Amino acid sequence: MKNIILASSNPHKLEEIQNVLSPIKINTLLEIGFIDEIEETANTFEGNALIKCETIYQLYKKPVISDDSGLLVHYLKDAPGVYSSRYAGQNATDQMNYEKLLNNLNDIADRRAKFVTVICYYQSPRNIAYFKGELTGSIAEQPEGYNGFGYDPIFIPEGFNQTLGQLSSEIKNRLSHRARALEKFNLVF
Ligand code: IMP
Repeated sequence: MKNIILASSNPHKLEEIQNVLSPIKINTLLEIGFIDEIEETANTFEGNALIKCETIYQLYKKPVISDDSGLLVHYLKDAPGVYSSRYAGQNATDQMNYEKLLNNLNDIADRRAKFVTVICYYQSPRNIAYFKGELTGSIAEQPEGYNGFGYDPIFIPEGFNQTLGQLSSEIKNRLSHRARALEKFNLVF
């Protein structure tokens, strides 16, 4: 069985990624003993996904997979985008971030939004591949549900009338931006 290091310490991402890539054994950063923060200094999803992979590859010289993702809101000219995890400030909680977003959309009828994920698969410095996945939907009027993480309580996927926070993890794992990017990865590897 193939082993890949996941350059993320987000347990929700690990669950979603391991679920789709089940024949591959994913090693977490915790398992390999890496506990530092990796600074995401790029202004694109591809750039940040690459930074995460490069940091881990340089230390462990083993294949690494990383994901960089965010929420793009049409009315806000695609903000928060790559800054999704720190929209309300450097140490903002998920709740602070989505509350700021809801405030910025107060009384706004155009609530179109999409999640984007870029997966980077880094086998060596000469062998790097990217896979992109998107999930379109809209921003709810108020937070609903406790499943998932991040902006899940305020994001309603197209074709549904509940937020990702209310939908089961089975449904989210089937339709999420991350699942879509990983399916493309699965077709190649
Ligand atoms: P990253 O860890 O730099 O990729 O940060 C992505 C940020 O985007 C997270 O902290 C969340 O705020 C948001 N995000 C990414 N994927 C999801 C998702 O599946 N559901 C909800 N929020 C997400």
